[in-house]
Amino acid sequence: MEYQGDIATIQRRLAETSDLYRRRLAVLEATSAQPGERVLEVGCGGGALLPLFAAAVGETGRVVGIDISSDQIAAANDLCLGSDIATAEVQDVNQLPYEEASFDAIVAIQVIEYLNQPGKALSELRRVCNSDGRIIVLATNWDTMFWNCEAPELTARVQSAWRKHAPFPNLPAELRALLRAAGFRMVRQTPVTIINNAYHQDAFAYWIARLILAFATTRDLIRHSEAEEWIRAIEEAQAAGRFFFSSTPVLSMAVAK
Ligand SMILES: C[S@@+](CC[C@H](N)C(=O)[O-])C[C@H]1O[C@@H](n2cnc3c(N)ncnc32)[C@H](O)[C@@H]1O
Repeated sequence: MEYQGDIATIQRRLAETSDLYRRRLAVLEATSAQPGERVLEVGCGGGALLPLFAAAVGETGRVVGIDISSDQIAAANDLCLGSDIATAEVQDVNQLPYEEASFDAIVAIQVIEYLNQPGKALSELRRVCNSDGRIIVLATNWDTMFWNCEAPELTARVQSAWRKHAPFPNLPAELRALLRAAGFRMVRQTPVTIINNAYHQDAFAYWIARLILAFATTRDLIRHSEAEEWIRAIEEAQAAGRFFFSSTPVLSMAVAK
């Protein structure tokens, strides 16, 4: 999926919701960055976490955010302006310009599942990870998404279209083996569940519905009339007090072996 145009705008609104704010806090806590550590965030997007990692590692530490999108890195650099600790660079996670063991903690939030060769990227991340370093990967088993509305068949078609947006739409289920092959050992996987029992602009469900439909209509997987019908069904569920959405992103923590 290309993070440009409408899709980039929706992605930004999604990142501003309280649900994703809470998710970033969960990643921060799991990373537990310490003063003096070197942190790499891959696919850092607009860089919302970089200043927080910088505050944790302090002046003796270093934070690098990388992303393949120059637009995202421009936004991330705006956030890091004036920091001697955090920088953001356009780089491809498959081929990093850093020496072996350059980082103590590596973070990837909703990135690895979008790569065609996640094993290759994880091996590259293992190369730049310290021998007692750690990696924190947040990804969603997208098949766990649940929408309560009176259009179950259309919902199933929308869900099935969304499966095509990433080469690995259920990455947490595959991650243990992928990490092992790359030289990491999984320590734990914990859910960071999102539940929305109301449909409004601060709900993850509101923006993910739009992101899914932007993707599915652009690819001709869902017709525009069907997209409108689905949103109507969701709005009717909200009006009837029956709207419910849940999804389970999973935080995976692994250490170098
Ligand atoms: C779903 S977004 C997640 C952004 C951010 N981590 C967040 O949670 O808001 C995926 C990000 O991965 C980046 N990306 C995709 N392929 C990449 C690659 N090969 N190397 C580095 N970044 C990549 C995209 O540009 C995009 O910013």
